[in-house]
Amino acid sequence: MQRARRLNSIPPYLFGEVARMKAKVIAEGRDIVDLGIGDPDQPTPQPIIDKLREYAAKPETHRYDESDAGAPAFIDAVGRWYSRRFGVELDTDSEILLLIGSKEGLAHLAWAMIDPGDLSLIPDPAYTVYKVNTLMAGGEVAIMPLLAENKFLPDLTAIPSDAALRAKLMYINYPNNPTGAVATPEFFANVVDFAKHYDIAVCHDCAYSEVSFDGYRAPSFMQTPGAKDVGVEIHSLSKTFNMTGWRIGFAVGNPDIIAALRSLKSYIDSKQFAAISLSGAYALDHLNNDAALELIRRRRNILVDGLNSLGWRLEKPKATFYLWVPVPPGYSSVEFVKALLQDAGVLAIPGTGYGTYGEGYVRMSLTVSGDVNGERVAEAVRRIRDNVNISWG
Ligand SMILES: Cc1ncc(COP(=O)(O)O)c(C=O)c1O
Repeated sequence: MQRARRLNSIPPYLFGEVARMKAKVIAEGRDIVDLGIGDPDQPTPQPIIDKLREYAAKPETHRYDESDAGAPAFIDAVGRWYSRRFGVELDTDSEILLLIGSKEGLAHLAWAMIDPGDLSLIPDPAYTVYKVNTLMAGGEVAIMPLLAENKFLPDLTAIPSDAALRAKLMYINYPNNPTGAVATPEFFANVVDFAKHYDIAVCHDCAYSEVSFDGYRAPSFMQTPGAKDVGVEIHSLSKTFNMTGWRIGFAVGNPDIIAALRSLKSYIDSKQFAAISLSGAYALDHLNNDAALELIRRRRNILVDGLNSLGWRLEKPKATFYLWVPVPPGYSSVEFVKALLQDAGVLAIPGTGYGTYGEGYVRMSLTVSGDVNGERVAEAVRRIRDNVNISWG
């Protein structure tokens, strides 16, 4: 029995080695402060759970969702949310599509847009879904390095023109995983110009738009004049409402791209359980997640101030759960992750897990299970201070 060759495009499990090291440290009976995974540790807000109970008890939610784009109540709620949050009006008939989590949409978009031999422009470092699905669809990728000196925005002028001419799709992601960077309206405007010039579809992954601090509000790519002509934006309820396990998100924007994705998906899935879609609609209409964000902000401050007291010069990210931490001299990313884990019992992710340009960094996540008030994060700082050999030369 032979599986499809396209599966060879799937890289070895990114966190394989880290997972093995983690298991070993746990087997030794040691406690780990886990700054690895980016998955909200707080529960989904109670009113959303109550709505799920209510809708799940209604037999009409138990059948196939036979709508075109997802439960109409959800699609309408997305339209209202976009108008309220971003001042962007969307046509609910053609510009919104329910997703079974944003990962599903980001993955299937490559299958909807990329033919064998086509090219996607992919940031590096980045969430690996963009690249792997482009490759599985038979495409190729050209990377757009995200560098500190460019505030982790791709330099569009550095994209070779042969790559730009061949590209059919460009993925971007702000607020950004893993760097924590945010985008400016000027950058988005440059992306629109670039995409129009080279006839490239843009996919803006906006999964972290609502994870922001200190009054910062992330912009939508759709606020950029002309964005709807070239692209779509993909959102998630996962990080906004602590709903990662529920699997619900949505795509909005260019009707042709939305139609292509909808058409592909109509032969793959049958949308989401309507009770989840309707609970998601309730969340979009009525809730925010300020309480959980306040806790994340507190952890961010403790971790950034703590690391800076050990010689780092980190800025506090305005958005996302992530600190993108340069490794001290003398370590590679993986070596530093090993030292953190073995010497201090602190788990971080090597930057190289997100691409070549992640070398020299580790990602620390602020979604720390078991942390009630920042004390686990403070403990991580103490352990690093007392146990890890750091010399800034
Ligand atoms: C940048 C980015 N996009 C999308 C996702 C997927 O989120 P979900 O599929 O839960 O909506 C993640 C999850 O970690 C992410 O980091």
